[in-house]
Amino acid sequence: MYKSGKERFEKAGIDIYFPSKIEIEEDNNKIVVFRKALMCDVKSLYNLFSEYSKAGEMLPRSMIDIYVHLRDYYIAEIETEGEEGGGYELVGACALSIVWENLAEIRSLAVKKPYTRKKIGTELIRKCLIEANFFKISKIFALTYKPQFFIANGFKIIEKSELPHKIWSDCINCVKFPDCDETAVMIEP
Ligand SMILES: CC(C)(COP(=O)(O)OP(=O)(O)OC[C@H]1O[C@@H](n2cnc3c(N)ncnc32)[C@H](O)[C@@H]1OP(=O)(O)O)[C@@H](O)C(=O)NCCC(=O)NCCS
Repeated sequence: MYKSGKERFEKAGIDIYFPSKIEIEEDNNKIVVFRKALMCDVKSLYNLFSEYSKAGEMLPRSMIDIYVHLRDYYIAEIETEGEEGGGYELVGACALSIVWENLAEIRSLAVKKPYTRKKIGTELIRKCLIEANFFKISKIFALTYKPQFFIANGFKIIEKSELPHKIWSDCINCVKFPDCDETAVMIEP
């Protein structure tokens, strides 16, 4: 039996679809807002991922890939001040992709350089885990070059072979296939 959609939304949906905030004390108490991505974020997402993929720190993401998976993304943004008036700067992103009945993947996690080590990545992961819980998904994995970040967030290293064959369909399109040098990590909160 399902609980009513309304009840589930009230319990968890608020966290998924409404923004949360953290404050960066060491940076003049700047407020970082976390929300679902919108169409206006696509170019900033592309630029963020391109910077890191050129440096070999993450796999490249094409514009089409970002559009197709846009609803999977959370973004982090900071209000900026400038001579031409204020605006918002996208400083981080992370996607939760549902893979199977009880399995989801954290993909495309990145935080802009001057803003790393300020717990922005941690909050992006938290949003994804809340959403996974909303969908009653209890296994969340990632393939990563930064296992230490995931371990700090409660993930454990696993053998890639523990992941179902279903996920390898994505890997076939990867530039690194079949020589994957990422580490598989999993959390079952
Ligand atoms: C990895 C990344 C997303 C981390 O984001 P972040 O906002 O800097 O991470 P947080 O501040 O939330 O870090 C939380 C903890 O994770 C660990 N951690 C974070 N980055 C780490 C790193 N580069 N190496 C080792 N541990 C790290 C630390 O324990 C950290 O706590 P501490 O700062 O108190 O020591 C960010 O460095 C990044 O975008 N890197 C480039 C792209 C990338 O590698 N993406 C991941 C591919 S899956």
